[in-house]
Amino acid sequence: MLHIKDLNKSFGKNHVLKNLNFSVAPGEVVAIIGPSGSGKSTALRCLNGLEIHESGTITLDGEVLTHDEKSLQTARMKMGMVFQNFHLFPHLTVLENIMFSPINVKKIAKAQAEQQAKELLHRVGLADKAQAYPSQLSGGQKQRVAIARALAMEPEALLFDEPTSALDPEMVNEVLQVMQELAEQGMTMIVVTHEMGFAKEVADRIIFMADGEIVEMGTAQQIIEAPQTDRAKAFLANVL
Ligand SMILES: Nc1ncnc2c1ncn2[C@@H]1O[C@H](COP(=O)(O)OP(=O)(O)O)[C@@H](O)[C@H]1O
Ligand SMILES: [Mg+2]
Repeated sequence: MLHIKDLNKSFGKNHVLKNLNFSVAPGEVVAIIGPSGSGKSTALRCLNGLEIHESGTITLDGEVLTHDEKSLQTARMKMGMVFQNFHLFPHLTVLENIMFSPINVKKIAKAQAEQQAKELLHRVGLADKAQAYPSQLSGGQKQRVAIARALAMEPEALLFDEPTSALDPEMVNEVLQVMQELAEQGMTMIVVTHEMGFAKEVADRIIFMADGEIVEMGTAQQIIEAPQTDRAKAFLANVL
């Protein structure tokens, strides 16, 4: 469903993404790992139209993503994003956070958006937090709300940018568990993560990036247990 071909992106003189090539099949879970600064976040942001790539093509469902606002907005709707720092609206309740985009972007009726938001909260185990404000939640709960909010737009794929990196260790598993359930239900996911256990267990494929390039790509067994390059070996020695 997603094809990335010769994708390049620079910030000024900093060539951040260098000829990225990969595809994602429907229902596939792809983990992206690699050192800080290697371009992982930028790659995700190009995929859902938050950054404009400078050359190469991103094809989603057979349609090439262009730089015009309509195309970028379609990409944002089709690819939900979950950020490290949750990005919830602090002045809205949990329920209102989840209803916001369906009502304001998709123009769905309020009653329908509310019904859907309640079902999603149930799905992420937070049915009792509908009327709470983000400040009243733990980090793990906030991230589960953020996942519910992304799902409310009924995206074709979900992009996660280090979804557990800002969490206290005891809250990591509750978020990974929700993500694992989504994967089992067939959600297409691209997950930037340092959680090697999760990558190994849940990801169909792992991409190792360094210095803006895809250095290795393969199954968890190939990449985590038998890395071929010195860069991947050095990175894995530090994170495992
Ligand atoms: N908005 C931006 N403006 C300028 N430089 C940026 C911006 N975002 C990222 N960069 C630079 O791009 C490179 C890759 O960053 P990033 O994609 O965040 O890497 P990663 O997510 O792998 O840590 C870094 O050198 C970073 O400083
Ligand atoms: Mg990043």
